[in-house]
Amino acid sequence: MPPKTVLITGCSEGGIGDALCKEFFRQGLRVFATARNTAKMENLKALGIETIPLDVVDKASVSEAVEAVQVATGGGKGRWTTLSTTRGYSMPLLDANIDVARDMFDVNVFAVISAPWPFQGFYNASKAVVNLLTDQLRVELEPLHVKVILVVTGTVRTQFFQNLPETRLPPGSVYAPAHEEVGYMLSGKRSQSAAMDVHDYARKVAQNVLKLRPTVNQWIGGSVSAVWAVSTFLWHTAWLNPKGRYYIPASQTEQAGQS
Ligand SMILES: NC(=O)c1ccc[n+]([C@@H]2O[C@H](COP(=O)([O-])OP(=O)(O)OC[C@H]3O[C@@H](n4cnc5c(N)ncnc54)[C@H](OP(=O)(O)O)[C@@H]3O)[C@@H](O)[C@H]2O)c1
Repeated sequence: MPPKTVLITGCSEGGIGDALCKEFFRQGLRVFATARNTAKMENLKALGIETIPLDVVDKASVSEAVEAVQVATGGGKGRWTTLSTTRGYSMPLLDANIDVARDMFDVNVFAVISAPWPFQGFYNASKAVVNLLTDQLRVELEPLHVKVILVVTGTVRTQFFQNLPETRLPPGSVYAPAHEEVGYMLSGKRSQSAAMDVHDYARKVAQNVLKLRPTVNQWIGGSVSAVWAVSTFLWHTAWLNPKGRYYIPASQTEQAGQS
């Protein structure tokens, strides 16, 4: 019997996709690693993993990648599993660059068909949409015998925050008086302090995916148990602190309100 096949998106070196490729390969699966720039997957190629260029928001690139996998697997008669890892954007909503946010929605949401961290409004929104769409996909693909798994990821130690498009408040931001606290949030230093090792993460995700009856909503990563407990047992607004944790002097907020 040919080995099971998995295609993984977003496999640039050092990220979750990269670690997942290595883990599935180690477990004997045929792995197609994909990224926009194949030069970022040289480490995987050196291990013998097949690499294919794929930009998930570029239709031509998607068709070419699908065709490449079909050819490589003998006409695509076999089944493959697809795992998507995508991108982030950390910025207060008021300061967000809409073009960057729209681009992220294209990658995170439209290409794929929560923890509410402050100042990641667009990112959290894109993940919430993915959450809902995954439930929908699960129902719609069930008659085709396709299993859909949602991995709700807590913090994982990767270059995620270093790869974000921008994490500095723009000039004139209303949050400027609290730039130290807000900048700390945007840099990810706070959330990354409890982050899970990326290889432990990949091993547990792969273990679940390869089960006969996988957990369909897998919560995994740093701080995720607390997020799961609050989201599951407490009321929706339990997350929200109306006073806010970021001190901005009253004079500054008045100024911001007038402008
Ligand atoms: N690390 C964490 O703490 C954490 C926590 C919760 C959720 N997650 C989620 O886990 C996923 C992976 O994150 P990570 O930590 O591995 O970060 P990462 O290293 O920055 O990985 C992001 C990957 O997405 C790829 N990507 C971006 N745009 C793409 C496009 N248009 N087509 C194809 N690939 C594209 C990037 O490729 P390029 O190199 O070409 O840009 C990169 O390989 C993300 O969805 C993230 O939201 C991570």
